[in-house]
Amino acid sequence: MDSPLTAVVIDDNSESREELTRSLAQTGVAVLANTGAHSDGYRKAAEARPDLIFIRVEEPLARALAAIEYLNASVPATPIVAVSSSTSVSNFQQVTRAGARFLIEAPLLNDELARVMSAIRGAATPRPASRLGTGRVVAVVGQKGGVGKTAISVNLAAALAANPGNHVLIIDFDMSFGDVGLAMNVNSEVTTAQVARDLSEADRDEFKESVVAHPSGAFVLAAPSRVGEWLKVTPEQLESLVENAAALYDYVILDTPGAFNDAVAAAMDLADNVLVVTSLELPSVKNTAMLLQALDEDGFAASRALVVANCTSEDAGITIADLVPSLRRDAIWKVPFDPAVRKGSHLGQPAVVHDAKSPASLSIRALASRIETVPDRIDRRSAVREEGSGRARPGFRARLKLALSRSSGDAA
Ligand SMILES: Nc1ncnc2c1ncn2[C@@H]1O[C@H](COP(=O)(O)OP(=O)(O)OP(=O)(O)O)[C@@H](O)[C@H]1O
Ligand SMILES: [Mg+2]
Repeated sequence: MDSPLTAVVIDDNSESREELTRSLAQTGVAVLANTGAHSDGYRKAAEARPDLIFIRVEEPLARALAAIEYLNASVPATPIVAVSSSTSVSNFQQVTRAGARFLIEAPLLNDELARVMSAIRGAATPRPASRLGTGRVVAVVGQKGGVGKTAISVNLAAALAANPGNHVLIIDFDMSFGDVGLAMNVNSEVTTAQVARDLSEADRDEFKESVVAHPSGAFVLAAPSRVGEWLKVTPEQLESLVENAAALYDYVILDTPGAFNDAVAAAMDLADNVLVVTSLELPSVKNTAMLLQALDEDGFAASRALVVANCTSEDAGITIADLVPSLRRDAIWKVPFDPAVRKGSHLGQPAVVHDAKSPASLSIRALASRIETVPDRIDRRSAVREEGSGRARPGFRARLKLALSRSSGDAA
């Protein structure tokens, strides 16, 4: 049995402080102290050496952010959980930059709290049968080559895997030039195409034997070196592959090619979260706007797709502020330009591993924390099977494919 966790609660509002203290007690956490976010309070909180620290963060954020920074510096091994009525991307980036590990929404839901606690305890293994199929699938897509889909996929996988409670698998879905294996310096005889073709749901052990362990803790299923291998794989087999993977891993990251095809459509259909990666170059922004519009028109829930603006060069002509009206999205996650990213792909070690404090690493680690805590999940079974047809949302695929091939000369 796990020993009870201890916590300190920091919240200026006495009412919500008591409420959080009560919720924590209900989940079996021993609250050592609760206090306001004044400097005396948080210094005493650090001295209590709890297993974790909960801190309330509301506008104006400055005082709580200062407390998080202080706590992060004085007790760096103690996870800080920020609690706020707004879990906007901007709040998330600010609290994680200050050093919080999680941001969860107030009022607290017991499920949400339990999930954070289990991530902190690192107690997700082995997966009980009742949780099979509940892994979170994250598709990393983008309507251009070279915008950083692979860089973000491998860094995200490594950042999620840094939590020992997470079983993470990255699957290379890139039919053209899949280079996850290269970016992670993994040589694998067994590939995505082979596993998709040969494995049925019954072959769980074989599935696990087919993937390669990366030193970051993530597991890798690489793309075939011969493009022709993909020709023997159907979209349905790719869907089964993802479903199987989600039954075995807590997080399944799908790196996809820069042109829309059936595999990308399958990845997006099945993903709980879609990261739409754009660089700050005009053609990428234009194609991203087309993709988002097509998704909106198809009723794809906006909350499932997060735009990631990845600065692949130092002197991008377009700013994040420019993107907001063009993409019609308020929440845009920025990954800064960072030479550690390119160096990482040369080393076969994602930047979050070889330089965990570099600017892009900090951003992607914060993104990983957000993915660990966003509540939106999809019911994969209804997402992929339309009544009677046995096929996945053919309208969505056909329309999107058509829309994108009209808008971009390079779509498949
Ligand atoms: N934030 C960043 N800072 C610096 N370099 C970056 C950043 N993101 C990506 N890069 C570099 O840009 C190049 C292209 O990135 P990557 O291969 O991830 O793009 P991609 O979208 O996967 O391309 P493709 O569609 O061809 O697979 C790589 O050399 C990568 O290391
Ligand atoms: Mg790539």
